[in-house]
Amino acid sequence: AIDIRNFYGEAGVLTYDPGFTSTASCKSAITFIDGEQGVLLYRGYPIQELATQSDYMEVCYLLLYGELPSTEEKAEFVNDIKRHTLLHDQLMHFFRGFTRAAHPMAIMVGVVGALSAFYHEDTDIYDPEQCMLAAYRIIAKMPTIGAYAYRYTIGRPFVYPRNDFSYAENLLYMTFSVPSEEYRPDPVLVKALDRILILHADHEQNASTSTVRLAGSSGANPFACISAGIASLWGPAHGGANEAVLKMLMEIGDKRRIPEYIARAKDKNDPFRLMGFGHRVYKNYDPRAAIMRETCHEVLEALGHEDDPLLELAMALEKIALQDEYFIERKLYPNVDFYTGIVLRAMGFPTRMFTVLFAIGRTVGWVAHWKEMISDPESKIGRPRQLYVGAPQRPFVPMEKRP
Ligand code: ACO
Repeated sequence: AIDIRNFYGEAGVLTYDPGFTSTASCKSAITFIDGEQGVLLYRGYPIQELATQSDYMEVCYLLLYGELPSTEEKAEFVNDIKRHTLLHDQLMHFFRGFTRAAHPMAIMVGVVGALSAFYHEDTDIYDPEQCMLAAYRIIAKMPTIGAYAYRYTIGRPFVYPRNDFSYAENLLYMTFSVPSEEYRPDPVLVKALDRILILHADHEQNASTSTVRLAGSSGANPFACISAGIASLWGPAHGGANEAVLKMLMEIGDKRRIPEYIARAKDKNDPFRLMGFGHRVYKNYDPRAAIMRETCHEVLEALGHEDDPLLELAMALEKIALQDEYFIERKLYPNVDFYTGIVLRAMGFPTRMFTVLFAIGRTVGWVAHWKEMISDPESKIGRPRQLYVGAPQRPFVPMEKRP
């Protein structure tokens, strides 16, 4: 807390907390993290159990409704989501307005924001049914938008979703299928992608979720708010780290160069950071990273890529970093992004799609938080204060009198 005095000499007290390291901005019943112990729970259920025993649709239901579904509830939910996978024909023109060189995240920010134009009149934020409809729409359309963003940038025609496929299967299908061929995604990849989506589904008040909440706190259209969240996710300190990790591993290229990069990460005059390492909340191994590491081995083995040099390099880098005083002192461990890129690359996704896949998985978390905020009677418009450090009040100087 800092005592402040304004221009008029009035005193007040503000907490000054850059990066909100110790400010709780809301109450939430969705996700619990114990960063010291490396615990992550969605609605009370451990992430390890959900990642190995559940599936993404069930986790979406859990995050949105607070409880695991019954068999009937789940079937109905899956069906309802499938009813919204298609994009409005007019939205196709929107994709075509982008340069083919566009980053798919840039396309996603634009197209998701544009959904607000299509679903504004029937998205009354004070009507719980319409809020849930908006949630279903955005969850259902994200894979279609992500896959189309990719296909557009590589000049391939769009592929319509197949509603007989699961969520993850459909995402792979719309991304990779070639129209003339009968394409069915490999079940090993479907399972791995489904797990990746579960691991990314929510993570309480991270930068993108807080952005969605802040944008939504003014009562703005939810599709526009999710678009703001996607923009925040894109940065390399957040969701963009999965893309940055792979680029870093490729740049390191050889185990013998690891010490050079570790030294750079420790050098305070060098902006380089070890991507995929460190976390604001986890001061222990990120439980999602541990699951991803295992998944990475499983997928590479199933694809016959056990000897992937990037995996070997990543494991060697992790080992060296975890024995280094600098990383030990600061409690810097691999985060979820460290191993994700290797799995996604093995699946055939280009690096530019990595953060798009993160965004698809996180969408349910964003909408669950948005809904929670909208229905919370204690919720207010987000309006942080500042410590003004600029010029004191002074008279305007006409042009001819300026030096
Ligand atoms: N490499 C080298 N040093 C690091 C790293 C890193 N990856 N991460 C943190 N540090 C150092 C900082 O330089 C700082 O050192 P100092 O105390 O000597 O100044 C100390 O560790 C604490 O770091 P902060 O930046 O204060 O921690 P913060 O909580 O603000 O940042 C963040 C967390 C952004 C994740 C950071 O660890 C980072 O940049 N990591 C690399 C990017 C990354 O992997 N992001 C993905 C995060 S997970 C996610 O969004 C899914």
